[in-house]
Amino acid sequence: MDSTVTVTDNRTEKQYTFPITHGTIRAMDLRKIKAGPEDFGIMSYDPAFMNTASCVSKITFIDGDKGILRYRGYDIADLAEHCTFPQAAYLVIHGELPTPEQENEWLAALRIHMGIFENIKKFTEGFRYDAHPMGMLVSTMAALSTFYPDSKDVRNHDVQVKCISRIIGKIPIIAAYGYRHSKGLEYISPEPSLGYAENFMHMMWDRSPLEHLKHPVLARALDVLFILHIDHEQNCSANAMRAVGSSEADPFLSTAAAAAALAGPLHGGANEAVLKMLDEIGSKENIPAFIKGVKEGKEKLMGFGHRVYKNYDPRARMIKKTAESVFEITGRSKKIDLAMELERIALNDDYFISRKLYPNVDFYSGIIYEAMGLEAKMFTVLFAIPRAVGWLAQWQELINDPEQKIARPRQVYTGYDQRKLPDSYTYGVRTEDAVATTR
Ligand code: CMC
Repeated sequence: MDSTVTVTDNRTEKQYTFPITHGTIRAMDLRKIKAGPEDFGIMSYDPAFMNTASCVSKITFIDGDKGILRYRGYDIADLAEHCTFPQAAYLVIHGELPTPEQENEWLAALRIHMGIFENIKKFTEGFRYDAHPMGMLVSTMAALSTFYPDSKDVRNHDVQVKCISRIIGKIPIIAAYGYRHSKGLEYISPEPSLGYAENFMHMMWDRSPLEHLKHPVLARALDVLFILHIDHEQNCSANAMRAVGSSEADPFLSTAAAAAALAGPLHGGANEAVLKMLDEIGSKENIPAFIKGVKEGKEKLMGFGHRVYKNYDPRARMIKKTAESVFEITGRSKKIDLAMELERIALNDDYFISRKLYPNVDFYSGIIYEAMGLEAKMFTVLFAIPRAVGWLAQWQELINDPEQKIARPRQVYTGYDQRKLPDSYTYGVRTEDAVATTR
């Protein structure tokens, strides 16, 4: 079968044949379709990138209809069950799972960068006690750019490698320092000999009232949650990372921009909304009335539905499983039973079945984080820590892709045609009258 598409321009009755590659046509081919020699050519209009591939990528595969998520070809469930976060991070960045030697080198590179300048501590102190942790993370990440002028040399492979380890090594420290600052607690230095998630818990809980939450089972649960959040192909924050990175801004600034995109409630903030919703529902008897309200369009079932998944989000399945191990240590959260009953009722209801609405990653993640002692304001930060790996993999792929250029979309202009400035605006007009009025 010929992998081409032929379109007829009814204005000119001319036909154009374009190749189809990977199920796409090149938007630039559309420019060949012109009504006349002076015509600019046709563009595609796609607000919110509903049907536009902005890049070719080898990192993450999603089949939303089948509920499949893979990093570099490996199923997310296998990675979450059998790998550590640093191993999965290595895979996403480098394309292959590490050999034991490569893993040691990778861990050593991360450890070297698990330190932070004293000035950064002072910088953190400048925030008010109630500053949102995402605002602190975004600003501190951007501030790190000023400490590493070499990071501007973005096309240099060695610089790319170094910046990736720097950011992955430092982001949990920035997150934990922000938290400790807001609680008025002294900063706890990283302990690089610990596992990645374990070290984060150490910096969060050591010498604090929540010290008992430094537990190996909880650290492993956090490690799994980190793996599940590493990448999700061209979502809003990955797109921000690529768009800013395409201007050759350094990776600290690009990561800050990606984190800013994640901070929005439509992206990284839904797990917080799930907890609020469960609090409002209160108990199982109130679920039918709540569902009725959702069906009448009065509210949304938060943590349900997804632009891409029209099946069970595989991450939600893993999080639900991980929750059980967490509750064995922390005691069972009442919210999990309420959430499971809510899920059961929704998945048997025609409204949700017909719209293919299933639990997404955020449905259970807030419940598990809360049980682990993490407060709602920190949830998006917990998303950002592992997602930095995905952002950096996307950034490196972009920088090294010869087809990519600075991201610069087109627009459809629907504003005024040329207009004449009113005579009352005289500044800079070199007539005697105008000069007199400006004096
Ligand atoms: N509760 C009730 N109805 C819903 C929900 C929901 N959570 N989600 C979608 N619908 C309905 C929607 O009203 C529409 O119905 P109708 O066809 O009668 O108008 C239909 O399902 C299709 O929804 P849509 O709004 O066209 O779907 P979308 O792809 O534009 O939106 C979404 C996806 C995730 C924004 C949406 O499902 C939603 O708001 N969910 C709740 C918020 C949430 O959990 N967000 C986390 C997303 S996953 C994490 C991430 O990506 O960062």
